[in-house]
Amino acid sequence: MHWTKRMAACGLALIVGVGALAAHGQNTSEGSAQTSSAASKSNLENWWKNAVLYEIYPRSFQDTNGDGIGDLNGITEHLDYLEKLGVDAIWLSPCYPSPQVDFGYDISDYEAIDPQYGTMADFDRLVAEAKKHQIRILMDMVMNHSSDKHKWFLESRSSKDNPYRDWYMWHDGKGQTATDKGEVPNNWQSDFGHSAWEWDEKTRQYYYHKFYIQQPDFNWNNPKVHEAFKDILRFWMKKGVAGFRFDAITTLFEDPEMRDDEALKDKDGKSYLNSYGDVAINDTMTNNLPGVHPVMQEMRAVADSFKPDVFPGTRVFIGETYLPNIAELAKQYGPPGKPEFQLPMDTQIGFINKLDVQTFREKLNDAETKLEGNIPLLVFDNHDNARLDVRYGDGAHNTEIERMIATMLFASRGASLFYYGDEIGMKTTPPTRKEDVKDPVGLTGWPKDKGRDGERTPMQWNATTNAGFSKNTPWLPVPSTYSTVNVSAQEKDHDSMLDWYRKLIALKKTNVALAAGDNVMLDEANTKVLSWMRKGADGSQVVVACNFTAEPQTVNLTGGGAGLKGSHAKTLLKSPGGSDAVSLEAVQLQPFGVYIGDVR
Ligand code: GLC
Ligand code: CA
Repeated sequence: MHWTKRMAACGLALIVGVGALAAHGQNTSEGSAQTSSAASKSNLENWWKNAVLYEIYPRSFQDTNGDGIGDLNGITEHLDYLEKLGVDAIWLSPCYPSPQVDFGYDISDYEAIDPQYGTMADFDRLVAEAKKHQIRILMDMVMNHSSDKHKWFLESRSSKDNPYRDWYMWHDGKGQTATDKGEVPNNWQSDFGHSAWEWDEKTRQYYYHKFYIQQPDFNWNNPKVHEAFKDILRFWMKKGVAGFRFDAITTLFEDPEMRDDEALKDKDGKSYLNSYGDVAINDTMTNNLPGVHPVMQEMRAVADSFKPDVFPGTRVFIGETYLPNIAELAKQYGPPGKPEFQLPMDTQIGFINKLDVQTFREKLNDAETKLEGNIPLLVFDNHDNARLDVRYGDGAHNTEIERMIATMLFASRGASLFYYGDEIGMKTTPPTRKEDVKDPVGLTGWPKDKGRDGERTPMQWNATTNAGFSKNTPWLPVPSTYSTVNVSAQEKDHDSMLDWYRKLIALKKTNVALAAGDNVMLDEANTKVLSWMRKGADGSQVVVACNFTAEPQTVNLTGGGAGLKGSHAKTLLKSPGGSDAVSLEAVQLQPFGVYIGDVR
């Protein structure tokens, strides 16, 4: 299916500057020491506003005990690398005990670490060592469902009068009798294929699962579920985690009247089958229901009760928010005085999945103008979608295109989230035989949908056996590209993707306009080149131009009423081999080339 199916300012730059000085030990006089402590306090509160966030799929990052599966110690081992890259926080995909039916998204204990990934002591060490690198840890929080092996579900399914019965969603079948289970309660489907209802013979009722059969949904109408999750959040925040990425958060509630979802229609007005062979339906009755808002407000109040004056500072909520439009995204920040997420993911932009200038211009502008001054969180890639090569590449210029995507990600206002391996241009490598498939989505969807293994292959560290990921056979095969596409090779190459990421991130952190300046679109009628300006609070201006075509382009950025303060620019970054912009009236770009310059 690929995941897109489910989609149906602030003076910070100054603080970044002062913080950077303090870190280099240059603030010795009393006056500047005060400035520095004020700055670091403000930094503790605001760290997320211009943050660089990095998603790690722990299973695939680094194996240290030789079982072919990545582990927490493997992450700790690479903190120097992440610091040098400029990462502020790691979003750790689930590492809780789990039967691993959905590779950790089926949790059987929310307050422990799966032995596959290490111990709680390893986790504590990761948090402590990361802190030394000024890197924060964000946990994945799966509140929609647990594993069917979680003790709460085992209790729940054990009898109809068990105190946990009402923690999950149980229902009689349609036309059920003492001897006949009847039909499923309604037509709701699992995102992983087929009916979302599973018959349970022991207590003779169906339970609801939005995802895999082994992932029963919680009943969020039960206040005990709320309390249980508040305790879980407190547990991890006391351990020093900086916040959470809330998984599948828009699916907490379902239509209380249990109405059927509607069939989708093709262009001839006929219903059709999806990749699982089911009649394709929308998910209006099971996704983005309003009940989620008060729940998130309640959770956020818990996080806000943790004082931001010591590291990790403000606890941040990130949302997995695939939503139909910008207005729905805007709601995720919460109404005035009742905050929900600081950083709901803006999937409107990153999952356009087509290099169309006008669409990008419109969506990037929406993020600037329609989120009521909130901070956008841009993201182009994650563990659920084919990597950038498949969704944006043209085969011939993938590297140039990936540089351009990274430019949109880091040179736009807001926080930026990327996925391990993007910084070296890792490619999607799906399984070629059904017997190799690990992801349940691929098992159900084969061959139309090969699942998500292709974007979860081991991190490519170097050109040694198994790309330096593991001494033993990795749980997913290492792509054959590893001998050239790897961290070690790219560290030595000043035109590498890794170098490009480092330079972009460094600019985002140190350049006043790029750190927090407004985004203003330039040259808005252009259908080939996307250009914008960042306007710093100190009056500085930076222009960015991305050529969306396979031909060279020359653009004039001085037209329109955007208010450029000069007609020339000093190059800050350009695609390898690109020209410096002598004049902003004629900025030259190579095929899929990028130019970033400081306006003079
Ligand atoms: C989210 C996760 C995905 C998982 C699903 C069910 O979409 O990102 O990997 O399979 O939720 O938890
Ligand atoms: Ca649900």
